Amino acid sequence: MKTLVVYYSRSGHTKKIAEEISNKIKCDIEEIIDTKNRKGIIGWLKSGRDAHSRKLTTINEIRNDPSKYDVVAIGTPIWAGLMAPAIRTYINQNKGKFKNVGFFCTCGSSGEIMTFEDMEDYADITPLSKLVIKSKDFQTNYEDKLKEFIKGIK
Ligand SMILES: Cc1cc2nc3c(=O)[nH]c(=O)nc-3n(C[C@H](O)[C@H](O)[C@H](O)COP(=O)(O)O)c2cc1C
Repeated sequence: MKTLVVYYSRSGHTKKIAEEISNKIKCDIEEIIDTKNRKGIIGWLKSGRDAHSRKLTTINEIRNDPSKYDVVAIGTPIWAGLMAPAIRTYINQNKGKFKNVGFFCTCGSSGEIMTFEDMEDYADITPLSKLVIKSKDFQTNYEDKLKEFIKGIK
């Protein structure tokens, strides 16, 4: 199975998980870059508002065509109980190109049910596997969760 890991990360958590997945599978990885400045407290507030209103954003051009992969694992931080605008935009621009998907997200404590539903509805595809890593998981060992997710998308 040819797999691509695609993710957006504002502060590094989702990036860490994306890199661990791609290192374990030994597959391609692509970071989605949001051109909007989301730094600082103003960026945080705008980000929450944009995510809540399901707004799209502008992202840099992608390097990897998702239609060339058997599985695309898509990762996002949870913002206001939903996916980040950069991932919404990525899905919007590539809808119909996904053969199979896996969804993963990172969050403080909650929001994964609505986020995964939102991603599934928006991409119009049922994921093979889903993974959520919460703040408390980063303090402990989430190896088993990671393995389970990878088993699901393989
Ligand atoms: C604008 C904003 C909204 C957030 N909303 C939620 C939320 O609804 N639920 C939650 O558990 N965490 C929430 N968080 C925390 C992030 O989901 C969490 O820190 C995540 O791991 C960040 O991923 P990143 O480091 O890849 O950007 C929010 C963070 C930001 C910046």
